[in-house]
Amino acid sequence: MKKAFLLLLCGLMAIFSLTSQNNVIKIGNDGKSWDIVTHSSGYRIAVDANGDVKAAYYGSKTNLEIPGGTVAPEIQVRGGNATYMGRGLLLPAIEAVFPDGVREIELTYKTSEISETDGYPTLKIVQNDKFYPLEVSSFIRVLPEYDMIEKWVEVVNTGKKGDIRIENLMSGSVFLPKDAYELTHYSGIWGYEFIPQTTKLTQGTKTIQVKDFKSYGASTFMVRPEGENDKYTGKVWFGLLSYSGNWRIDFEKFFTGQVQIIGGMNFWDQEVNLKPLQKLASPRMLFGYTEKGTEGVTICLTSYAREKLLPVSHRDKIRPVLYNSWYATTFNVNEEHQLALAKVAKELGVEMFVIDDGWFKGRVNDKAGLGDWTVDKNKFPNGLKPMIEKINNMGLDFGIWIEPEMVNPNSDLYRAHPDWVFHFPNRQRIEGRNQLMLNLAREDVYQYLYKYFHDLLKENNIKFIKWDMNKPLTNPGFPSAPIDEQRSVRIKYVENLYRLVETLRKEFPDVWFENCSSGGGRIDFAMMSRFDFNWVSDNTDPVDRIFLHDAYLTLFPANTMISWVTQSEWHQQNLPLEYKFDVSMAGVLGVGYDITKWDDRQKKIATEKIALYKAIREIVQKGDAYRIVSPFEENRSVIQYVDKNRRKAALFAYNIADYPNNSVKENQQSPVIKLRGLLPDVQYKIDDFKGTFTGKYLMEVGITLPLQGAYKSKIYVIQEVK
Ligand code: DGJ
Repeated sequence: MKKAFLLLLCGLMAIFSLTSQNNVIKIGNDGKSWDIVTHSSGYRIAVDANGDVKAAYYGSKTNLEIPGGTVAPEIQVRGGNATYMGRGLLLPAIEAVFPDGVREIELTYKTSEISETDGYPTLKIVQNDKFYPLEVSSFIRVLPEYDMIEKWVEVVNTGKKGDIRIENLMSGSVFLPKDAYELTHYSGIWGYEFIPQTTKLTQGTKTIQVKDFKSYGASTFMVRPEGENDKYTGKVWFGLLSYSGNWRIDFEKFFTGQVQIIGGMNFWDQEVNLKPLQKLASPRMLFGYTEKGTEGVTICLTSYAREKLLPVSHRDKIRPVLYNSWYATTFNVNEEHQLALAKVAKELGVEMFVIDDGWFKGRVNDKAGLGDWTVDKNKFPNGLKPMIEKINNMGLDFGIWIEPEMVNPNSDLYRAHPDWVFHFPNRQRIEGRNQLMLNLAREDVYQYLYKYFHDLLKENNIKFIKWDMNKPLTNPGFPSAPIDEQRSVRIKYVENLYRLVETLRKEFPDVWFENCSSGGGRIDFAMMSRFDFNWVSDNTDPVDRIFLHDAYLTLFPANTMISWVTQSEWHQQNLPLEYKFDVSMAGVLGVGYDITKWDDRQKKIATEKIALYKAIREIVQKGDAYRIVSPFEENRSVIQYVDKNRRKAALFAYNIADYPNNSVKENQQSPVIKLRGLLPDVQYKIDDFKGTFTGKYLMEVGITLPLQGAYKSKIYVIQEVK
């Protein structure tokens, strides 16, 4: 079979001129083989003589000059084509049970077409089961300038009677050539999100996954040949799943040396019964390939998110400087104090004033109130409106915190509708932070939430929503649904979550939306296409933040990263206010102190820092971020932001602790910083440095920063001199 396929490819890979938009999907002359080409990668796929659709190659595009490639089914199923080239069973992308109990699938090629999805060419290949009424469409959307392809799968029960039980539907997989590989992925817990972890891929399966809707890491991964871990060069296969429910990515290293990477929704405790003519679509999975090391991955992912993914209404807008009341007041909010905070915030240069938790009925602590989304008259006797007007009259926009998906048992909503939460009869309802999770898969729950938040936005001049979600999913029972639909409840939940955000955004296009889940518990590309910002972590300690920022900025753009300056530090270190501001300026700057208590010195520092941030924020928010020194490598962090035309940059330098003088560590740390992303022939000047430098000098020779001592920081502006 392998030989037949190679012959077929040899014949077909003399690619003819039949080529899709932008020349990125090149079609073989029989119309049944495709070379997909991005800036540096090539993906080959073809139908063999038996009608099987085979993935032949993924990696450097130069290799496409050679015909053939490693062969594996493009869509791996439980059944017919599951064993290949002595690799044992491939991890399946589809597992189904037909009405007569048959649990194997056999696919054969039916049709294909190239069209456009969201502005990019997309190859669709349709396959049918050879006997049963199951149609499988697989999609590959090509993002050439970002060196990425996006895969997803749709299955349809084309029969007239009988359900097909889908026990697994992954979004897609890729195969890496035989080599020794290392995997880097990001995991974490509350307060310590996005911790990079690197592990060797040994024979067997390494799985990263989420089973309770809480994803304190990310599905983003990087796989590279062992030893090729240079920051700026070397092959990296990378990817992520754009999904906000349970997800799973497997890395299977076969005994033959190749690696299969497969990802999608996590079908742990999940199945979907496809009724006749019903369809199920997987979320989209991005795969990428670069030869520019981790920096290449960062540029591909963050540029794509910033330029193509973020909600279009706000995509190119400069993000405002925020004030958020959480760390200043917790639940203890009232009109008088909020107005006092807003007055000082305005004097400092803040543009958006956000009231966090505590403003709604009965919300004196975290034991009550969630679900009853009317204003607490004890705290705001005149309602929200007059306060918002006063804040607006100060020249500030107003924002508010909500947690739509949750309810406290101590609430009017729960007393009226105890069946609206996820639960199983005869089983304990497990609370987290004294709350339960509403079953948003229910249409009545959806309509309730839609009405309340629609009215809130309609009746008040709210320009910013902080959308929180604090409890992990437990007890995923939906007892009132038909038995055969109960295990697909999570899928419907996520659909309705997206629908709710999208509907509100459409109706209130001026409103900014921040995504929060006890800090960074639900940050992914699907949320990023619907929310403008992420609250990365409740940990606002500047030193911990330096690590968090370094990891976050590897994966996501800086204009989505809200960071507040707060008084309460995780480690009670009492670090300088200037240092805290410099740290928070690395993304979207916010302030979270009780600023009514600030003295003139603190106000002066804040005013100056906010003014500096406004002067450089276009570079930070719209530029590319280069992690020149990672705090995971040394006791300092240096990040450089370079604007799109490469004539301006901002260099953020933070010292963490001091190494002892003349210690091995100290002597191993080079004082020289080599900049990135500048134009070689342009002359630049740098704050605190005499004279001018060519971009080539700054990038190849480098400079030594005069910053000395622990917990010292400095932001250097770098500009072209004409
Ligand atoms: C958890 C969030 O991460 C915090 O920022 C804050 O909004 C609290 N919830 C409020 O309850």
